[in-house]
Amino acid sequence: MDLRVDISRSGLTGEEINAKKDAVDAALERLWSGKEDFTGWVKLPLEYDKNEVERILNVSDIIRQQCGLLIVIGIGGSYLGAKATIDALEKEPDAPQVKFAGINLSAVYHARLLREMDLQDVCLCVISKSGTTVETTATFNIFKKALIEKYGKEEAVKRIYAITDEKNGALREETEAEGYTSFVIPSDIGGRYSVLTPVGLLPIAVAGVDIRGLLQGAETMAGSPEWDFDASSYAVARFLLLQKGKAVEAIQHYEPSLKYFVEWIKQLFGESEGKDGTGLFPAGLELTADLHSMGQFLQQGSQIFFETVLNVKNSPVDMTIPAGPLEGKTLNQLNRAAVRGVIEAHSSAGVPIIRIDIPELDAFHYGQLIYFFETSCAITAMLMGVNPFDQPGVEAYKKEMKKEIF
Ligand code: PA5
Repeated sequence: MDLRVDISRSGLTGEEINAKKDAVDAALERLWSGKEDFTGWVKLPLEYDKNEVERILNVSDIIRQQCGLLIVIGIGGSYLGAKATIDALEKEPDAPQVKFAGINLSAVYHARLLREMDLQDVCLCVISKSGTTVETTATFNIFKKALIEKYGKEEAVKRIYAITDEKNGALREETEAEGYTSFVIPSDIGGRYSVLTPVGLLPIAVAGVDIRGLLQGAETMAGSPEWDFDASSYAVARFLLLQKGKAVEAIQHYEPSLKYFVEWIKQLFGESEGKDGTGLFPAGLELTADLHSMGQFLQQGSQIFFETVLNVKNSPVDMTIPAGPLEGKTLNQLNRAAVRGVIEAHSSAGVPIIRIDIPELDAFHYGQLIYFFETSCAITAMLMGVNPFDQPGVEAYKKEMKKEIF
């Protein structure tokens, strides 16, 4: 079973959605034409290089033998996809831990991580498309120095893995000069659309998550004749709700393991759509926890938002409550009751709600989710009339920050 979108509580009519069909078809045509910059991710699940996936798996086996801790150094699109996927899916119990550096500029955060390097064998995986991002460059040099101190130069080089542009950037230069094992970030795929390239796949494979399953899930979405229906209706619903004054999309999940998946969606939507004075502001909510903090606002606060509910239908485990007033009920029963109850209550208060049903959280369905959100995002951005694949605002702050430093 595939993932499905329910917009029956969105307050939108079928006619309103269908009225955008020509605009959606035009967006899809642009995405699939192969002529637009940075659309390499669209056909990737159908055309990816099987030998490269084989190489990723082989290199991940080497890393798994070398270390108990892989520190991935990168930020934004060079980190969130891997972090989100590793958190969401079942890992192999004896796989190395995967932790992330360069995701902020906190000395406290990195000092703690450095201390962990003393306790076990370590490898580094540095990821940067541009090869010039401040957070990545700064922390890679700190961790590289520590690695050399721990193992000596020759052994340290064997424990550094680089994922960057094929030709350009300081990281590529260093990789070639030092002889790090490396992978290429395809030039036609931007950071936030790169999780199914080596950027995501190598760290995910090290954690023991089934990367072939991910690619198969994405392939069924890209290859299926109906795949565009639900992605399109979700994309159109988002666009129409923004037009009706709902400027915030409150993306909700009931599985804590999806916290970083929502962070990944926030980057995807925020950077792709938030430009030229438009875009939906993506917010993340973890339920039921946030019902006890944000629930009041959602029910009765200013109506500037709609809700998108990530509804995982089947859980691999359950627990029965052994005593008390809920004796005999299970946690999954209660979680399902919360999903239904919250939708009912908020919908009655007039909040538009979109529900995305995910059959289960395995690699296959997660691969579907990745492709579904990437496609929906690109369509909505095109309906909004903005370029889904640039991030001029991000570049602006990077430039200003560099002026401060150099
Ligand atoms: O989506 C994007 O392009 C950005 O978020 C980048 O991934 C992020 O800024 C990191 O850039 P780089 O991979 O060049 O270090």
